Parts: sequence; C-alpha cells; structure tokens
Amino acid sequence: MADRLDSLRHELLEAVDHAPDLKTLDEVRVQALGKKGRVTEVMKTLGSLPAEERKPFGQRVNAVKAAVEEAIAARREVLEAAELEAKLEAERLDVTLPPRPHPIGRLHPVTQVTEEITAIFADMGFAVAEGPDVDDDFHNFTALNFPPEHPAREMHDTFFIEGHPELVLRTHTSTVQIRTMMAGPPPYRIIAPGRTFRCDSDATHSPMFHQVEGLVIDRSTHMGHLKGCLQDFCEAFFERDDVPLRFRPSFFPFTEPSAEVDIGCRRSKDELIIGEGSDWMEILGCGMVHPAVLENVGVDPDAWQGFAFGLGIDRMAMLKYGIPDLRTFFEADLRWLKHYGFAALDFPTTFAGLAR
Ligand code: DAH
Repeated sequence: MADRLDSLRHELLEAVDHAPDLKTLDEVRVQALGKKGRVTEVMKTLGSLPAEERKPFGQRVNAVKAAVEEAIAARREVLEAAELEAKLEAERLDVTLPPRPHPIGRLHPVTQVTEEITAIFADMGFAVAEGPDVDDDFHNFTALNFPPEHPAREMHDTFFIEGHPELVLRTHTSTVQIRTMMAGPPPYRIIAPGRTFRCDSDATHSPMFHQVEGLVIDRSTHMGHLKGCLQDFCEAFFERDDVPLRFRPSFFPFTEPSAEVDIGCRRSKDELIIGEGSDWMEILGCGMVHPAVLENVGVDPDAWQGFAFGLGIDRMAMLKYGIPDLRTFFEADLRWLKHYGFAALDFPTTFAGLAR
C-alpha cells in the first residue's frame, strides 16, 4: 500500500513538472485531485481499512495531496510567467522608434498652396465652403447670370455629362457662391478651393485645374475693400510687402464692375521674379457681385452688396515656387513630387511661415 502511494506521488509530481502549458496543468490537476481524481479515489478506500490503519494512511494520502497541490501552484507560476513573457514578446511595440530620417511622402504643391491660401484668408475671417465637382447648369451658369445661349457659356469649354443634359463638370468654383448664398442668410465671407474642369489642354492649360473662389457680402462692402483684400492677400502669399497689382476692367456675367488682376513681375530667360520689373501676369478675376445674382439666390440687392474673386491655384503655385510647366503637375511623376513637394506635417500658418 505504502509503495503504491509513493509511486502515485512520484507519477503525479512528474506529470505536474512536465505539463508544457497551463491547460495541460489544469488537466493534470483534475486527474489527480478532481472528484474522480486518482488521489480522491485512494481517499475513498479509507473506509474499507481496519480502524487502526485509517489515521496513518489518511495522513499519508493527505501529504501526497498537499505535495501535488504545492507542485501545481509552483508550476503554474512558472507557466504563467512564461506565457506573459511570450505575449509581451509577440506584442512588442517599440515606441521609441524615431521618424524616418528622410520621410518619403511629400505634399503636392497644389495641396501646399491651397493650405497656404486657406491660412491667409482664415486670418482675414473667411470660412471655407465646398461644392460638388459635378454640378448642374443652374449653379454653374444660370444663377450666375449667364443668359441662355449666351456666348459666355462657350467661353468656358464645358464638359457635359452624357445622358444628363443638365449636369456639367463645374467650369469654375463660382458655383459655390450660389450654394453658399442659397444655404442661409447673409452676411457671407467665404473662400471655396476646389477642382474645376474645362475642355482645354496645352502647356498652360490642363482639363482639370484648381481655383479658389472668394465671396464677401454684407451691407457696405465696396470695391476699395476688394482691392485691399487682394493686395493684403498677395503680400502675405508672396511674403513681400511691395507686390504691384494692376486692376484691368473686364467682363464676367456675375460681377459688375468686373476686373482682372495682374501681378507685376520680371521675366528673364527661364526665371520669373514677382514684384520686380515691368511685365504683368494675370492671376485672378474679380468684381462686385451683380445685383441679378443676389436676386437669383433670394438676397435683396438693395440691402446687401459685396465682392467676389476667382484665383487659379495652379498658377499661383507655379509663380511662387518657380515651376515652369503646368502639365507636370498632373503627370504623377514621383521624382517631380520629390523635387517640388512639401513636408507633410509642416502646416502653413501666417505666424510660423507659410512654406518651410
Ligand atoms: N469664375 C471666373 C472664371 O473662372 C473667375 C471669376 C471672376 C470669379 C470674377 C469671380 C469673379 O468670383 O468675381 O473665369
């Protein structure tokens, strides 16, 4: 009997020590100490022993039980520590990893310049508004005071949508003037950057390009405010305080009077310097919002007035960063982007510098 107990103890301790993981250890525990476990079964034979043998035998069985329990507890600790170690190793995350010395991603100059322009106008109290790339004839033309069949519609080389005669790819961001004014009551002070489309493609025209629209409507805004606003903008954008601007009378159906604005520059062989010399370069169209446009969107032109402007983002990027060819903007050449692109996390602000 004693031998049998010794070998049981030996066998169980062996099983505990060799349990490779917590699950197996638990199975060993149940087989040894559970309701039908080996030690429990031996304990049950106690009653069939002669009275004088019961006590010493019971003590020996209890000692085996205690030894097995103790071994299980010790083994569990070892296995738990190992399991935690393995988990930590598998889920290792080195938070001290430094950024890559040469970040690969670069912001496209159009993105950069859009953010720069937005930062400048935000400082002047403009909110950013948006509209869809695919818009309808009403927002793109009719509400902006283009008469039906008027040649001004053809000026725009419009892309139409097959099967939807009323839809167009917007030819300018002026659509957002209409959307903004129809969405709520005046006053308005917004810019709307976005994509625009015209069926035109050569060295200086891309069928998809970018504009920023501006709109200010309140009770007393006049042409002087428009000039001041654009002058301040250009000086902030080109980061110099002597940018010469020239306002030339022009025509747009949605403004009266209308003007085109040129910036003074010097063109040499393959260089263009802003703010010097005697050449002029057109950068935007603008004017006082036509009373008919205000009427079209339900704003009383006798009570409200203001100005609007539309600026080519791509051209501003070319001027500021000396990028000679518009077509390269949209060729998706990574070498080009590496050369002309901007670091992704340097958000332009007027106080910390627009481009760094
Ligand atoms: N939408 C015009 C264009 O794309 C640009 C423009 C001119 C916008 C005058 C305006 C404006 O808001 O007042 O040719």
